[in-house]
Amino acid sequence: MRLTIADFVKVARAGERLAIVTCYDYSSALIAERAGLGWLLVGDSLGQVMLGHGDTIPVTLDDMISHAAAVVRGAPNALIVADLPFLTYATPEQAVTSARRLMQESGAQAVKLEGGSPIIDAVRRLVDLGVPVMGHLGFTPQSANQIGVRVQGRSVEAAAQLIRDAEALAEAGAFAIVLELVPAELAAAITDRVSVPTIGIGAGAGCSGQVQVWHDVLGFSAEPPFRHAGRFAEIGRAIEDGLAAYAGAVRDGNFPTGANAASIDPEILAAALALAGHG
Ligand code: KIV
Repeated sequence: MRLTIADFVKVARAGERLAIVTCYDYSSALIAERAGLGWLLVGDSLGQVMLGHGDTIPVTLDDMISHAAAVVRGAPNALIVADLPFLTYATPEQAVTSARRLMQESGAQAVKLEGGSPIIDAVRRLVDLGVPVMGHLGFTPQSANQIGVRVQGRSVEAAAQLIRDAEALAEAGAFAIVLELVPAELAAAITDRVSVPTIGIGAGAGCSGQVQVWHDVLGFSAEPPFRHAGRFAEIGRAIEDGLAAYAGAVRDGNFPTGANAASIDPEILAAALALAGHG
């Protein structure tokens, strides 16, 4: 049976650290569930890692729906949170329309929105209407053109604003808040003070849980990962080696073998050739 927001909150309240990973497709979702992950985020980071864009700005609601629906199909027991993409929640009304499409058309159980005070009304409206919302503060990739790709909340004013935004999101009803690229001590202080779990990425060990991007954590890229990314497998290398071995086996005539195909009775084949005029 699929995990719920209530399960998520219960696990966090019990003090168990929540391990979340992004997921974007059916086959990966199957594996994530087999690995025991109960919470999956269909992040708009799919813009970069699945669609080859430079950032998350080009990602559309249709993109999110298509990928989230695949993850929902692949992970029938996990709680699936999906990002509302760039400028699809600029007003409470637009947020409702976008969340309706994302949840109805993909089957995701919750949505994630980036930002603080400018989106509080949208968060409150969604929560009032029964939509579970995950917040996202600190480095918010949809605002990268404005804020740059850097650690947020280093100054007194910026840190205080982050604390206020986290409190406002919790008060508006968000069930959890992602803290991305936030100094570890600030993230821990926010975690101690807000009433909902915090999920860190590049925010230290003091959060209630962690989220990592699938491709970073599994080592898809040859380049060294970001400082904040853990690397727990070398899947990119394994795929490269596997594909090279496959191509080599085809070129060398070692694949396929007799075991990889069906065979036909030689008499039937001879009769068929004769019937086709090749006897
Ligand atoms: O889109 C995404 O993958 C995210 C995580 C980095 C939190 O928002």
